[in-house]
Amino acid sequence: MSKKISALNYIKDLFKYDDHRNFRKKLYKFTKKEKDLTYDYGCGYYYQSCESINLSGLRSSKKRVLNYSINEIIREKEVLDVGTNTGFLLFEIEKNYKSITGIDYNSKLIDIANMVKDYLKLKNLSFVNGDFQTYKFDKKFDTILSLANHSTFDSGIKSSATYLSKCNNLLKDGGYFLIEGHHPSYEKISDFSSMIENFVKKNNYEIKKNSFLKTNFFYDDGRKFYLLKKNK
Ligand SMILES: C[S@@+](CC[C@H](N)C(=O)[O-])C[C@H]1O[C@@H](n2cnc3c(N)ncnc32)[C@H](O)[C@@H]1O
Repeated sequence: MSKKISALNYIKDLFKYDDHRNFRKKLYKFTKKEKDLTYDYGCGYYYQSCESINLSGLRSSKKRVLNYSINEIIREKEVLDVGTNTGFLLFEIEKNYKSITGIDYNSKLIDIANMVKDYLKLKNLSFVNGDFQTYKFDKKFDTILSLANHSTFDSGIKSSATYLSKCNNLLKDGGYFLIEGHHPSYEKISDFSSMIENFVKKNNYEIKKNSFLKTNFFYDDGRKFYLLKKNK
């Protein structure tokens, strides 16, 4: 089904005659030309939509940003987005963050993220091509975004326990940790919830919000997410 939706997204975008049309064509040419060295979450097109350039995707970046209320936890903050993919979600947030780092181990996705970043002339946003599990960060963060990343279908992240422990070590005291589960057809809501609730107890966090994503996009809807605050 994902391949069909992506094919439809491609056709839909072909018929858009707006200011970003030429850039989208350039981006797509690059996307098609470069080989996928790891799993293609976009299934032939893009996984995340990028409303800033009127580009469709399997998941709605703009609506996700609103659902999570991300803008409330990034103002003047140093933010890390783990497994950023093409970074498109970051292009839909308010531009009042102090800095954002997006990391993904798939170099093609990072190249795409940088192309869009340059096109939109965004500052204080950097994309790192690296493996989150082994990458040595030179600072801690005020806010960490972990969206569908605590274990990955491509096997880039296998141990959620090791992953959560690294996120915890990278988060400043008093910082925010936004964590989204996988689609309920891949991960039981109860498994995700108990993993997070154990993490909260073990590491002295407070649950500020827990809710379900609802964007009317099939691959978004029904996912549970938590906003956690690390106690000082
Ligand atoms: C399910 S996608 C989620 C993408 C994004 N967080 C979102 O929710 O829109 C998982 C992403 O994690 C990346 N990834 C997997 N293993 C990784 C690792 N060890 N280090 C960095 N990125 C990784 C994949 O390349 C992919 O882009």
